[in-house]
Amino acid sequence: MIDMETLVSLCKRRGFVFPSSEIYGGMQAIYDYGHYGTLLKNNIRDAWWKDMVQYRDDVVGLDSAIFMHPTTWVASGHVGGFNDPQIDCRKCKNRFRADHILEGFGINADKAPLDEINAHLDRLRKEKKLKCRECGSPDLTAARIFSLMVKSNIGSPTDELKEENAVYLRPETCGGIYLEYKNTIDALHCKLPFGIAQVGKAFRNEIVARQFIFRTREFEQMEMQYFLHPDSMNKAYDMWKDTRWKWYREYGISEDEIRWYKHEKLAHYASEAYDVEYRFKALGEYKEVEGIHARGDWDLSQHSKHSGVDLSYFDEKTGERFIPHIAETSVGLNRLVLMFIDHAYTEEQAPTAGGKEETRVVLKFDKRLAPVKVAVLPLSKKEELQKPARDIWNTLKRLFIVEYDETQSIGKRYRRQDEIGTPYCVTVDFDSLEDNAVTVRDRDTMAQERIAIRELEAFFKEKYAM
Ligand code: GAP
Repeated sequence: MIDMETLVSLCKRRGFVFPSSEIYGGMQAIYDYGHYGTLLKNNIRDAWWKDMVQYRDDVVGLDSAIFMHPTTWVASGHVGGFNDPQIDCRKCKNRFRADHILEGFGINADKAPLDEINAHLDRLRKEKKLKCRECGSPDLTAARIFSLMVKSNIGSPTDELKEENAVYLRPETCGGIYLEYKNTIDALHCKLPFGIAQVGKAFRNEIVARQFIFRTREFEQMEMQYFLHPDSMNKAYDMWKDTRWKWYREYGISEDEIRWYKHEKLAHYASEAYDVEYRFKALGEYKEVEGIHARGDWDLSQHSKHSGVDLSYFDEKTGERFIPHIAETSVGLNRLVLMFIDHAYTEEQAPTAGGKEETRVVLKFDKRLAPVKVAVLPLSKKEELQKPARDIWNTLKRLFIVEYDETQSIGKRYRRQDEIGTPYCVTVDFDSLEDNAVTVRDRDTMAQERIAIRELEAFFKEKYAM
């Protein structure tokens, strides 16, 4: 069994994820990614992009701005509508999501109106069951609405005073896709059905932002909006569910670690919504990692109405003009970083150099996602080993991320590479000077094999299917 504390500590100790602004006391629910976290995140992003854009002829890419015209969020319903119910503890001043509190009592209040939430809370209060999760005090406020939109300030300060002119940091990346739908069709001559995919930052003023990088105030989304004729929604929706399910399986997540959750209460724009849920070992429960939504024609209709620009599509074959409907896939990149670390985390017994047993922590990432692909380790800091080891590093670094490490004992260096999930370690020893070969150690089996230096490049190209 692992817990979140173990993952948080490993992530900091090994340079995956750091609490942001730590020297100033930190900021709640904001995190920075260190060297290995950045590499892992990039690899996950690339794996998604390959599957969603590179391997398809019906999806194109986009990188839209974070700031968008303020009317975007009025049209989308976010201004005034993107809220969570909050409840405060008067004693310890902690803040909670009221629907999450009710969930703890088996009451599903997801997207329920405020008076319904408060009715449930009042009943629990009367039954003396309502207590602060942190300090146990019964002195909790009624639920209030709390906007998740993060406001910013560009342009004229007087404009900022008017709500309709407030500038927001985007709460989801898909807004930019709707605004560039017309330019994309005009420039790329896309024919329905087709999708636009993008990866980028999103911001939400989350009330309860615990659970490490699972829910943060600044995060990255990978979203794809598939524009289609309404009659083809069912087929396309099933195709996207299937495509995304296979992606998780492709990267090593087994059938019993993920499941579908069907939303009964839907967001105002959705006609169907399923989440992919992953069973986090560190949380001991299934939690949402991705949403797949049938969004109808809500988005383009709203932006057409508010902008005055016709966003309908003319089908030359049928002569029909209509507002395309949208099937969306939306996944949090940071949440996937947590998922893949949670999935990879393994503790096992392994022999030490002295013949004893010790617990080895190893991140068994899928090789393609591993931050570092190969570590080159001269057995000692002696110059005659440094030179060939550096030569190997110089050759392999052109292929992928390779680390050169000559500090500490070889045993400690192996353990360090295990903890960052490096699939192969190449050790240059004194025999290498005689036989022009090195030892390649496999992360998962710890088996070692001797490979000629001149064959190393081809060996790894084959291992990484390059
Ligand atoms: N465009 C649809 C949309 O944004 P969502 O269910 O609100 O849907 C989609 O978000 C995904 O984005 C979630 O499944 C999750 O992986 C990620 N996500 C949402 N809020 C997040 C947060 N505060 N921190 C980290 N990831 C988040």
